[in-house]
Amino acid sequence: CGIIGYVGERPALPLILSGLKRLEYRGYDSVGIALLGEEEICVVKNKGRIRDFELDLADLNFPSFCGIGHTRWATHGIPSRENAHPHLDCAGGIALVHNGIIENYRSLRLCLSEDGHVFRSETDSEVIVHLLEGEGTPLERLVKAVGKLKGSFALCILFKEDPGAIYGVRMSSPLILGVGNGENFLASDVPAFLQNTNRVVFIEDGEIVRVTRSGWEIFDFEGRKKSGSSVVTIPWDPVSAEKGGYKHFMLKEIHEQPQVFEDTLAGRVNLLEGQVYFEELQEFPIDFERVVIVACGTACHAGMLGRIFLEKFARIPTEVDYASEFRYRDPLVDSKTLVLSISQSGETADTLAAVSLAREKGCRVVSVCNVLGSSLTRISDWVLYTRAGVEISVASTKAFLCQMAVLLLFAIYLGQHRGCLGKEETRRLLEELVTLPRLIRDILEREEDICKLAKKFYLFRNFLYLGRGVLFPLALEGALKLKEISYIHAEGLSAGEMKHGPIALVEPDLATFVLVGQDVVRSKIIGNMEEIKARQGKIIALCCFGDQEVAEQADEVIYIPRVTECLLPFLAIVPMQLFAYYVALEKGCDIDQPRNLAKSVTVE
Ligand code: G6P
Repeated sequence: CGIIGYVGERPALPLILSGLKRLEYRGYDSVGIALLGEEEICVVKNKGRIRDFELDLADLNFPSFCGIGHTRWATHGIPSRENAHPHLDCAGGIALVHNGIIENYRSLRLCLSEDGHVFRSETDSEVIVHLLEGEGTPLERLVKAVGKLKGSFALCILFKEDPGAIYGVRMSSPLILGVGNGENFLASDVPAFLQNTNRVVFIEDGEIVRVTRSGWEIFDFEGRKKSGSSVVTIPWDPVSAEKGGYKHFMLKEIHEQPQVFEDTLAGRVNLLEGQVYFEELQEFPIDFERVVIVACGTACHAGMLGRIFLEKFARIPTEVDYASEFRYRDPLVDSKTLVLSISQSGETADTLAAVSLAREKGCRVVSVCNVLGSSLTRISDWVLYTRAGVEISVASTKAFLCQMAVLLLFAIYLGQHRGCLGKEETRRLLEELVTLPRLIRDILEREEDICKLAKKFYLFRNFLYLGRGVLFPLALEGALKLKEISYIHAEGLSAGEMKHGPIALVEPDLATFVLVGQDVVRSKIIGNMEEIKARQGKIIALCCFGDQEVAEQADEVIYIPRVTECLLPFLAIVPMQLFAYYVALEKGCDIDQPRNLAKSVTVE
């Protein structure tokens, strides 16, 4: 879910709505706002998207300079008007929006109901607003209420008796204060208010903030005033959070890849010296015995490639695990294990839990993350930032590319420090690496060909994606992209597994996307293609320019430039992203906000 609050000199409603639109990627099954007037609180909420919700507001005439809003991704209770936020207390004097999960809401709800509180929704969040009823100042009541809550919560709250103030609370869910001139914001994420200000204060876990148009005060969960929170200036340009002429954020983000790739390499690659630097890796030890990578979704696919890089260049045993598996397996890790977590948002619940567990077990944690100050960065010993900028599209593209880049650099860095990678070899690799943004630009210029290809294939109902070596994680990612946004069933496989079952699926209406590199397994993959052809399956091959042998076996071919094998993923991913995009476009799907998905899965 996404939450926002505004207090200032301008009418609150348009600012809250524009913030909600930028937060919609965090969930979008219902939406609501609460505005504080002189005498009362006005709440409008409904099931559905913001664009429909705006119609509900057409006749609203309620001048207000202070309000809160919420965009929901249902966890407790179906998407409905009643379950949409904000929630009101019994008397209608307190309005609250919540992101997170209240784990003990059942027992709280029972007690509150016995005390006569009437519940209007099925949500866990509504218990909080009932806990806030009673005697005392808003702050006193907040202190009392948060003491009873178990779980994760970021809250924005309006109290009728304190007009001109919004209260914010943070525990294990992000909450950021945006500092403006004569106005202030609270939100789950910076893009929600970035058009208005780029000066922020990261609210910490265990903090309550009271925000007015002229300032803010921070308190701990005991109600004691805190000082020392610093205002940070975020370098992101507000325009980057807009579509910039593209039809969808996904397409825009695909096209941003050459630039963000360069940004991610900037200052980290020294060609002259043949070295990789990471400013962030101060006092970084190299004495650990193995690396365990934890991540979810696309980030986990980057992690699988990270394993190959770490084993190849740093010669260090590496495993990869889904964070959701790692956290419940009582994994065998200790102080000699380096846990490497990867997350675009830094807010994925399973990844955060996996890292917390690793820390409890004494591991050191380095995280690859895109969002400055996100929860993950706060619980990691070291953070390597991908500099992908704001990623809005639910299907991750540019963040994935930058994750791969950081992982490669990290593997080279470790390889150098562990003495397994010489300067000359590093120099050659880095020299090639820095040419990749230009090669990606060349691939993007051939976008039209991929659009045509998508038009030929969008009616297929089943796809296989095959790859081996560095192209195996890419096969998984290519399949994930297609299924996420076009709802076509797609399976990524190691081509070596084809004969162990999946070949039974081959028939004329099965399409197979085959990724072919140039290393030892190339001939084996060509063998797979022959077997598919013999069974009349359709083949799209992605291979290097000039690979005639592959072209002969395929129905369609996408060529990419010939580079060192371990760099092929950086090029291979781009046509697969475009293919998924154009297939989804042809099918008329909601590309930036596919059904049932959320950008950040902040709950289990
Ligand atoms: C969700 C998103 C995916 C993303 C995954 C992990 O499922 O839809 O695109 O890969 O979460 O997110 P993270 O922010 O941790 O990289």
